Amino acid sequence: MRIDIVTIFPEFFSVLDVSLLGTARKNGLLDVVVHDLRDFTHDRHRTVDDTPAGGGAGMVMRPEPWGEALDALLTEQSTVIFPTPAGSLFVQKQARELSGREHLVFCCGRYEGIDQRVIEHARARAEVIELSIGDYVLNGGEVAAMVVIEAIGRLIPGVVGNPESLVEESHEDGLLEYPSYTKPAEWRGLATPPVLLGGNHAAIAAWRHDQQLERTERVRPELLS
Ligand code: ADE
Repeated sequence: MRIDIVTIFPEFFSVLDVSLLGTARKNGLLDVVVHDLRDFTHDRHRTVDDTPAGGGAGMVMRPEPWGEALDALLTEQSTVIFPTPAGSLFVQKQARELSGREHLVFCCGRYEGIDQRVIEHARARAEVIELSIGDYVLNGGEVAAMVVIEAIGRLIPGVVGNPESLVEESHEDGLLEYPSYTKPAEWRGLATPPVLLGGNHAAIAAWRHDQQLERTERVRPELLS
């Protein structure tokens, strides 16, 4: 998969060099290129923002540099993602779906957002998704893009060493994950649930499913309805 990221803070994305995604990039499973939006400006101050039409607080990102950046990056295979608190909620099902795409372009807005015509114009040329990672407001799309890239990247075949570890995870079957334990069997007076030490695989599977239901009901009841 190829991922292009457009941002005024390219340095945010240096974390993509480490951990599983860093290894995936080195192994050629994931090709990530970060672009500085200011490289698509032509004035001395490399201006990317201006006052909002109609008045109001803050600044809005001007369309011209975005238009040039997308002209340079879009292909027939591109899906364009705008992280925004005004987008639809990003969930695991969508991460799975996007992990099969050929080319993702992340457009990270700052300030009060990007001139809406950029999104409209991109929509005429490619699939466009406006995504929110949750009901809160960040200072820009960079951290949200990182979240989405990590959620998608780990689902690309070969990125996570043991694919079985992706199956029994929270949200994969609409439930939260069961709690996990390792050795020692007793630690600071707390015991590992005996069923996990008994070797009865059917009993372990049933216990884990009960735990998933109990935890989901307690922590995220809306997922069950
Ligand atoms: N940009 C600012 N807040 C955001 C959010 N919650 N999700 C995605 N992008 C954002």
